Amino acid sequence: MSPSELRAEFPIFAARPRPFHYLDSAATGQICRAAAQALLGFEAAARANVKRGVYRLADEATQAFDRARAEIAAYLGVRDAREVILTSGTTFGLNLLAHGLVGRLAPGDEILLSTLEHHSNIVPWQLAAGRVGAVIRAIPVTAEGRLDLDRLDEVLSRRTRIVSVTHVSNVTGAVSDIGRIVEAARAVGARVVVDGAQRVPHGPLDVEALGCDAYALSGHKLFAATGAGALWIRRDLAEELPPFLGGGEMIRRVSFAGTSFAAPPHRFEAGTPPIGPAIALGAAAAWLAGLDWQALAEAEAALTARLLAGLAAIPAVRVVGPTGTQGRLGVVSFAVDDVHPHDLCQLLDSRGLCLRGGHHCAQPLHDALGLEATTRASLALYNDASDIDALLEGLEWAIRRLA
Ligand code: ALA
Repeated sequence: MSPSELRAEFPIFAARPRPFHYLDSAATGQICRAAAQALLGFEAAARANVKRGVYRLADEATQAFDRARAEIAAYLGVRDAREVILTSGTTFGLNLLAHGLVGRLAPGDEILLSTLEHHSNIVPWQLAAGRVGAVIRAIPVTAEGRLDLDRLDEVLSRRTRIVSVTHVSNVTGAVSDIGRIVEAARAVGARVVVDGAQRVPHGPLDVEALGCDAYALSGHKLFAATGAGALWIRRDLAEELPPFLGGGEMIRRVSFAGTSFAAPPHRFEAGTPPIGPAIALGAAAAWLAGLDWQALAEAEAALTARLLAGLAAIPAVRVVGPTGTQGRLGVVSFAVDDVHPHDLCQLLDSRGLCLRGGHHCAQPLHDALGLEATTRASLALYNDASDIDALLEGLEWAIRRLA
């Protein structure tokens, strides 16, 4: 598929007046045609609740919902689709795990996070840790904005019961060495959770081979609708975890004497799920799985290199994060001398450039970098060189006005 054919698979590019340079895919990806059609097809012509009705429309909806689970499982490299829980997104998945895993800890047990984390992979653990007296530790970062795994021994101990880290930083784009973290965690008997929100839009993966115990993602970042996501939990762990939310369809038997619960994944899917968005997520995953990801990864690396080289040539700009393309994805944050990211983003918007400015829900990382906020450009498969060039020209123009 040529770059223009690929772009044509994303309806927003035909819908928005030009110039339009969408460089905020780390915040949300644009919906692909496959997902938009699946969403509308369900909501307009096939809508019924799932796992309940016995009439044909309801049965079709349940089948479509289960097919989505299987499509997401295939994208993640999960062989048994029953290990995939359909959620509302990464935040829900991480809260579910924090609730279930931390409840079993003793006072003084440790949870290891990292300085790179999004608040969604910090606050749920803090809330849960506070209830049982567990202690939170964090893997430090290098000056390049990568996990400093050479210092893992300083923060991992025999008391570490859980390690929860991001696969890819939403600020620096650095890819975490999950294999090394899993090896160290296993040596002390800890479970490993991975926040995959920023990794999944960059191609299918094999979470079983990664070696972690759980992997969370959001559908809206995977070019589907907002409101749905998925959480893979290794079967042995899922069987041990208590429910997170109580409600319909997560039970085996309810009585006032006590309630027994359904097996996973249903135990974790209380209430009416986001059916249409989940079906859209399955459709996006199935469409994405058929693309040439080697070519797409090369294209993303080339665009990232073009962006990094252009930023390096602007004296007032300092990239936070790796300055090369090795071990990183196309998420690039930077600081501009004497310019606030919000002012910069507003000015860039006047040239059709969509970027995020702020702390990107990663305040501990910004503290470690000695910055209040940064400006972030984040790439996806629909970006091309014209987006990068427009950004670089726009930046020089904006800096002349603001600095
Ligand atoms: N987590 C999203 C971001 O980094 C919202 O922008």
